[in-house]
Amino acid sequence: MNFCRFIYLVAFFLAGFSGARAAEVPLSELVRASLDFSAAQYSGMLTQLEGREGYPRSVAHGEITFVPPKDWTSGFFPGSLWYLFEATGEAKWRDAAAKATSGLKSLQDYRGTHDLGFMLFCSYGNGYRLTGDAAYRDVLLAGAESLSTRFNPTVGCIKSWDRKEWAFPVIIDNMMNLELLCWAARASDQPRYRDLAVVHTDTTLRNHFRPDNSSYHVVVYDSTTGKAVQHITHQGCADESAWARGQMWGLYGFTHMYRVTRDPRYLAQAQKIATFILNHPRLPADKIPYWDFDAPDIPGAPRDASAAAIMCSALFELSDYVESSTGREYAAVAEQQLRSLASPAYRAKLGENHGFLLMHSTGDFPKHDEIDAPLNYADYYFLEALLRCKAHLAKAGGN
Ligand code: GLY
Repeated sequence: MNFCRFIYLVAFFLAGFSGARAAEVPLSELVRASLDFSAAQYSGMLTQLEGREGYPRSVAHGEITFVPPKDWTSGFFPGSLWYLFEATGEAKWRDAAAKATSGLKSLQDYRGTHDLGFMLFCSYGNGYRLTGDAAYRDVLLAGAESLSTRFNPTVGCIKSWDRKEWAFPVIIDNMMNLELLCWAARASDQPRYRDLAVVHTDTTLRNHFRPDNSSYHVVVYDSTTGKAVQHITHQGCADESAWARGQMWGLYGFTHMYRVTRDPRYLAQAQKIATFILNHPRLPADKIPYWDFDAPDIPGAPRDASAAAIMCSALFELSDYVESSTGREYAAVAEQQLRSLASPAYRAKLGENHGFLLMHSTGDFPKHDEIDAPLNYADYYFLEALLRCKAHLAKAGGN
């Protein structure tokens, strides 16, 4: 560690202890210190997990909650371990990530959910990207095939959930599962996977957004006519409300679809979503959204750090695709979010928070589940945002 870095790290930790804003620390040092913290915190998490079955998801009643492979969040913890391997280069993280990833192998044949993208691309996808292990590639390709079986050409979408109450529900979150398909199209030279993702995106563009560019959570289709018959919520506070995490899934998903297609309509939609969020009168000054932009008890409503982490990561990417003044605006908000998330207001103290990195997320408010709690996907997108910020700084010559 050189002398300057040492001084900055001391300043960073002093800022944390004194309650001063982490904003005083140069961004490159904030990123380094946050990655150092994350590695130390997750080392403690790994120790806690010894001998335990399942994947850590959150905390309830003072205990870590563990989920089986078929839970939609199962890929995030292995994904975070891969990000720590990427950040540190240490074999310890590669080995832990590989072990956690291997437990999800059977998902490659699972056809019961649209969430395969989250489950497999965060785990096996990062594993393949970082190691080039052909066995990971095989699982991803089989998983993409399983996911593609949920596509209905009449509707023009991948079905999200198999539930009796709705014929053909599609949630905005489903945009996140398209990355697996787009990757598989390139990796296997089978354009049909990408074609499905494009049709799904076009259908979502037509039916999921309101005139103000906020999105519905769930659109229910008639699977025989393909018509959108219901616009409702599942995790938001009302059918017409803007559930915070849903807005961020849309932002991230359209940004990714622009990355792979360069279709200007997708870029335009990502920017419209960004405009809705960034200009929203109820986006707090620290840029960590309330769990729903229309929650009735704002400013007393719980925040959702997971929504902020997803948005932060997406904005770093989106800032690369737009003209420079807009890009600077997006990057500035992403930076502000990173500073908020890395501050003592949201980031846990070492050894606390049951080993998770971030505090104050909201999983499912209407179900009274995971409110003001740590969440494995908040940690995953926080790590991703840190790595994207680091790459941005390196590109700009700032380290
Ligand atoms: N995909 C479910 C959620 O965001 O909570």
